[in-house]
Amino acid sequence: MDKLIESALKARENAHAPYSNFKVGAAVESSTGEIIAGCNVESSSYGLTNCAERTALFKAVSEGHTSFKAIAVISETGAYPCGACRQIIWELCGDIPVIIAAANGSSETRNASELLPDAFDDSKLP
Ligand code: THU
Repeated sequence: MDKLIESALKARENAHAPYSNFKVGAAVESSTGEIIAGCNVESSSYGLTNCAERTALFKAVSEGHTSFKAIAVISETGAYPCGACRQIIWELCGDIPVIIAAANGSSETRNASELLPDAFDDSKLP
């Protein structure tokens, strides 16, 4: 778990957040034990901004990973994942632990299903 937070912290250094100045890092562990990390990347159009969690997960999927054990996210304040990221975590990872860490070293863990109860996913498609 510590390794995952450390990787997220390192990725946070690369955050491109000139508009919010809120730097976020995330790291996901694949079922084969590999760690893939990402940061938030903001756009001047704001809406095109990509959160750290989705950067890490989309990177992981694009590198061929299909199954995940855990994800960590770290920010100055220990912010929980936004709604969009909760949806993507649920769809790509299922009910994995989500570690939410703060820069002061504190962390909390929630399962993906706690963060997104009664989720919509492909099981609801006809
Ligand atoms: N952000 C994340 O990277 N992850 C989240 O779960 C919440 C928000 C980023 C997006 C934006 O670059 C900045 O934090 C402020 O919203």
